[in-house]
Parts: sequence; C-alpha cells; structure tokens
Amino acid sequence: MTKSLFGLVVAAASIALLGGGLDAVAAQSTPAPAAAATPASIDAAALYKSHCAACHGDKLQGGGGPALISPAIAGQDAADLNSTIKQTMPLTNPGSLSDAEAAALTGFIVAQNKH
Ligand code: HEC
Repeated sequence: MTKSLFGLVVAAASIALLGGGLDAVAAQSTPAPAAAATPASIDAAALYKSHCAACHGDKLQGGGGPALISPAIAGQDAADLNSTIKQTMPLTNPGSLSDAEAAALTGFIVAQNKH
C-alpha cells in the first residue's frame, strides 16, 4: 500500500516535470538563471557534445569558435555568459535553446573552467 502510493507520487511528479516543470524551474531562478540547479533531466555534457562541440571542441578547447575554457570565460559573470549562450548560440541557430538548456550549458562551462 505504502509502496504503490509512493509510485503514484513519483509518477505524478514526473508528469509535472514533463508538462512545463522545466519552465517553472527556469522562471523561479530569475534574476540569476545560471545559479539554478541543473534539472536532472538535462544532460549538459551530452547537450554540449551535440550542439556546441563541433565549433568549440569536445574539450572546450576551441576550433571554429573560441575556446570556452579561458580566462575570459572564467572571469565572466555567469548571468552574462548565460545570456550570451541563450541569445547567440549555437551560432547556426541562435535562440533555439530553452532557458533550462542554456542554464545547464552555462553551469557545465563554468564548472569546466574550475577544473
Ligand atoms: C557553428 C559554430 C558554433 C556552434 C555550433 C556554437 N558556437 Fe559558440 N561561438 C562560435 C563562434 C564563431 C563564436 C565567436 C562569435 C563572436 O565572437 O561573435 C562563439 C562564441 C561563443 C561564446 C562567447 C565566447 C567568448 O569568449 O565570449 C560562448 C560562451 C559560446 N560560443 C558558447 C556556445 C555554446 C554553449 C554552444 C552550444 C549551444 C555554441 N557556442 C555553439 C561558434 C559556434
């Protein structure tokens, strides 16, 4: 009984998350979206590989685009970095990332700069 109730709660939570929960997370995070916890359903490393690595390198070392591990990036305010990503990247399709995706990528890049 207790177990099946738990299952129901988990299922309901998952549905809520799929049905716009991510937007709610992003909305709550203003005015510092980059500081928000990355939603568990977004794999930032995979997102980076599929959307960014072709130009910025799979180790963020740069290529067609500038390196994303650099003093310039490390010294940048995360909120500024987040709006750059959200508004201008990927270069071929700017504005295509959701707020949650941009925030996840910002968190990923900031974390890589701390290594
Ligand atoms: C088609 C190639 C391409 C793709 C794909 C791409 N970028 Fe870029 N990116 C660039 C270029 C070129 C620049 C430099 C543009 C400029 O200075 O105006 C840049 C600049 C940036 C900057 C600013 C760097 C700085 O030093 O200020 C960031 C941050 C960034 N990209 C992140 C991303 C992220 C995150 C993704 C994946 C969602 C991505 N880019 C995908 C080519 C690309």
